[in-house]
Amino acid sequence: YVIGVDLGTSAVKILLVDQNGEVTKEVSKDYPLIQEKTGYSEQKPEDWVNQTVSGIADLLSNFSGDRTDIEGISFSGQMHGLVLLDENQEPLRNAILWNDTRTTKECQEIYEQVGEERLLQLTKNPALEGFTLPKILWVKKNEPALFEKATTFVLPKDYVRLKLTGKLHMDYSDAAGTLLLDVSKKEWSTDICEIFELPATFCPPLVGSHEEVGTVLPDVAENMGLTAKTRVFAGGADNACGAIGSGILEEGKTLASIGTSGVVLSYESSDDKDFQGTVHYFNHGAPDSFYTMGVTLAAGFSLSWFKEVFAKNESFTELLAELDTVPPGANGLLFTPYLVGERTPHVDSTIRGSFIGMDSSHERKDFVRAVLEGITFSLNDSVKIFREHGKTIDTVVSIGGGAKNETWLQMQADIFDAKIVKLSSEQGPGMGAAMLAAFGCGWFDSLQECADTFLKVDKEFTPIAENVEQYKELFELYQNVYTQTKELNK
Ligand code: XUL
Repeated sequence: YVIGVDLGTSAVKILLVDQNGEVTKEVSKDYPLIQEKTGYSEQKPEDWVNQTVSGIADLLSNFSGDRTDIEGISFSGQMHGLVLLDENQEPLRNAILWNDTRTTKECQEIYEQVGEERLLQLTKNPALEGFTLPKILWVKKNEPALFEKATTFVLPKDYVRLKLTGKLHMDYSDAAGTLLLDVSKKEWSTDICEIFELPATFCPPLVGSHEEVGTVLPDVAENMGLTAKTRVFAGGADNACGAIGSGILEEGKTLASIGTSGVVLSYESSDDKDFQGTVHYFNHGAPDSFYTMGVTLAAGFSLSWFKEVFAKNESFTELLAELDTVPPGANGLLFTPYLVGERTPHVDSTIRGSFIGMDSSHERKDFVRAVLEGITFSLNDSVKIFREHGKTIDTVVSIGGGAKNETWLQMQADIFDAKIVKLSSEQGPGMGAAMLAAFGCGWFDSLQECADTFLKVDKEFTPIAENVEQYKELFELYQNVYTQTKELNK
């Protein structure tokens, strides 16, 4: 067996996976999001560790086999979150997360000091509020006494792994989202570090996602019901792991993943495509490869927000129960999911969402359908960018919350105008983490070989011509909403 830990934004999901890729048990443990001010989004690193340790203990509570049969463990993690550590490797403050947008000024400062073109040359990415370097600069400026004590930083899943093993590392796929990594050379950018006066020791040692970093510390292993022999592999960014766990391991493969955020992601065998910074260009968790990706900040988050406000005591299944009784177009209701600003394509942290076209005949189910369509339109903005840059997007593997509902899967096929593939497990990132452990343990010669054994297609959804036409028209209207409403919250 191997264990895949997926440290998400709302919860940690932990999978126990056997040698055939079957998920024999899964456990989920949530933790709160701390939002003290508009635009702020933080979590307590201790919560991640406590919930992971107790989650693994639950996962193994009825395990009837021999504990030594659990050979390896690896991680997938929410990206970009800043965990600042003191000299004892303890966190100095709450982690500042990927969806925190307090750093607009710091992004401007990065552009002023580095230059837009040079930044793209050095890191392959633009300066975005969500990335880690702007967060480091924010703490340096706003909490100087605390920053003085910082000796290094890690990303969320690296912190959990540090507490499980005592070893400090960061993998390339997650480091790619810090804006401190030279993505092409796979090394920390000395230029960027020098410009912002960060000593070389501030950046942790880099490793590949499938590389072994140690074993579980004996006392922690005991708390979790594991043996101290369990091998620990670095793991990767949630999107890289989602790609691995969905078999996005060669050119031409595309992923749509709808979690709290939503992404459309495409495999790249080299670093030489030119997207001019319109999409993120990161290191893959599979050795020596890359992926490009567009991000919708509030994807699943828009639906959770709607449920929280209008259907607090219902389950998602209840909320979505009548979805297929509402026709495409939600009876004239249109939603834009910019609840916390938007990354791709607008790169605008101040824009906010909208419902447009409300009619006195509308019922709650129309709103639900409009929310799902709005999220999917937003992902289609990324699909459009890929196509404009010459990529063929004809088949898309869909994972996460968006793959749990068949009406939503058909909607993705109709809006993307592409075949949608649903795998038998929609657990992309957790499965990807388990696959990194399986590959690391030597069960397979490559991640592709592992994918061939572990991943099975459950169902495919083909675009329906009439819906495709209707959605094309609606998508044009959707795209206009941004320009018409962007001044509202300024
Ligand atoms: C990617 C991003 C999100 C987080 C969600 O750039 O910010 O997808 O990784 O966990």
